[in-house]
Amino acid sequence: MAEKRENVVMFPFMAQGHIIPFLALALLIEKTRNYKITFVNTPLNIKKLRSSLPSDSCVQLLEIPFNSSEHGLPPNTENCDVVPYHLVVRLLEASASLRPVFKQLVEDIIRQQDGQRPLCIIGDIFFGWMAGVAEEVGLFHAVLSGAGGFGLACYYSIWLNLPHKQVKKDGGDHFLLPDFQEASKIELTQLPLTMSVADGRDSWSIFHHKYLPEWTKSGGILFNTVEEFDDIGLVYFKRKLSKPVWAVGPILLSTENRIRASMGGATPEYCKAWLDSKPEKSVLFVSFGSMNTISPSQMMELAKALELSGRHFIWVVRPPIGFDINSEFKANEWLPEGFEERMRESEKGLLVNKWAPQQEILSHKSTSVFLSHCGWNSVLESLSHGVPLLGWAMAAEQFFNVKLLVEQVGVCVEVARGKTCEVKHEEVAAKIKLLMSDSEKGKEMRRKACEVREMIESAMKDDDEGGFKGFSVKAMDEFFHAAGTMRFQTHTPNQLNGTNQPRVQRVDDF
Ligand SMILES: *[C@@H]1O[C@H](CO)[C@@H](O)[C@H](O)[C@H]1NC(C)=O
Ligand SMILES: *[C@@H]1O[C@H](CO)[C@@H](O)[C@H](O)[C@H]1NC(C)=O
Repeated sequence: MAEKRENVVMFPFMAQGHIIPFLALALLIEKTRNYKITFVNTPLNIKKLRSSLPSDSCVQLLEIPFNSSEHGLPPNTENCDVVPYHLVVRLLEASASLRPVFKQLVEDIIRQQDGQRPLCIIGDIFFGWMAGVAEEVGLFHAVLSGAGGFGLACYYSIWLNLPHKQVKKDGGDHFLLPDFQEASKIELTQLPLTMSVADGRDSWSIFHHKYLPEWTKSGGILFNTVEEFDDIGLVYFKRKLSKPVWAVGPILLSTENRIRASMGGATPEYCKAWLDSKPEKSVLFVSFGSMNTISPSQMMELAKALELSGRHFIWVVRPPIGFDINSEFKANEWLPEGFEERMRESEKGLLVNKWAPQQEILSHKSTSVFLSHCGWNSVLESLSHGVPLLGWAMAAEQFFNVKLLVEQVGVCVEVARGKTCEVKHEEVAAKIKLLMSDSEKGKEMRRKACEVREMIESAMKDDDEGGFKGFSVKAMDEFFHAAGTMRFQTHTPNQLNGTNQPRVQRVDDF
């Protein structure tokens, strides 16, 4: 095949929760299709990615110039991980200023490929401006959402409509979404802080009002989700944007690639050995994701709840709110007196600093339930292994993920909301026991979680010989088919002739 390989350009927002699904998709495309991937990000993120790419990967990492100091951010802060919470919106605004530089970069890619145009650009949900760039350059563009359909639909609708503004004024405590009634009642306590205080004049509202509507210029949205249990939100976007949506998930990073992408924490071998020593389905896994921690009083109550429940647990601990998240964990200060020793000696609980091999733990037969912030990656990982959840949302669309899992899917019990709510250890312990015991509710949740695992397995099945393709695999085929056929329609007439005229190419996969 003398023809050059098709090129896919990908650019996620600079946050782990966004980079991870993009990277997972890049590695999957590379493995299953003969496409070249150009993965764009800012210099420090590219540096980190370089050491986290598998050695046999040919994904091309491309730096887009960025200097955080020039955007009112502390020096060398290019990722949500290291940006103070109140400055996250400034990182968003700074990313939008990359528009002209990104356009230049895409034009350079085309020039370097002797005028051969990339098959498509896959951009972030926060990069609504990118659809316009693609249009100007004459390329097919799609948004990739690392969030689920339902969670993102609530997020999108609330930001654009701000329905809670009036409800708050009227002293109410819940509301419906004007263009997404299927979501049913949302309570004010289910809003993340930035959303809760939004009045239309704040920086978050201004940013989202400017860029979320731009999705209509895009060719469609890819979702890291499974249509069978997350279709309400997907239907919302089809209706709202009149664009195709492709549910291609779950696309997950292997533990191996995740370890390279993070640092420190417990080794998979250590966790596995600990889990091996425990009875089947007897361990609760507790983790709030890579960006979150809870308040000192919540931490104290959670520790008491774990002890009171009497169950085995692995708990990924980080310093509580108000302390340097990167500082050493002080068990004797932040946990009940003697807690760590008691857990160690009785071998009831394993405290792990900062990071644990989540997939390894969730796939282990000793693991029974996951107490999680319900970030979408964590939800997918848990359900892929048939593990039901105890939901404790922290930020962003996580509250809506919990709502979906509790009300629609039936695989989750909510234990708390947010980083400031009051938590009572007796109540948390009761919910832990409920889900981990042989109660009807516990059994029902575990059965449902196994059903969802089967849906996931079926969606991802790609049986060449039997000819069976799962929904997610088919959706991926459809996406690339759309990219292959629609890109020429996106060109304006004067781009279709002249020296840059794209050769009509075979789309090999179909
Ligand atoms: C970033 O910008 C600041 C302020 O303009 C400058 O002092 C610094 O040298 C720049 N850093 C890099 C790496 O270019
Ligand atoms: C390209 O197309 C435009 C519009 O159809 C036409 O006016 C122009 O002459 C064409 N240019 C070339 C180089 O063929």
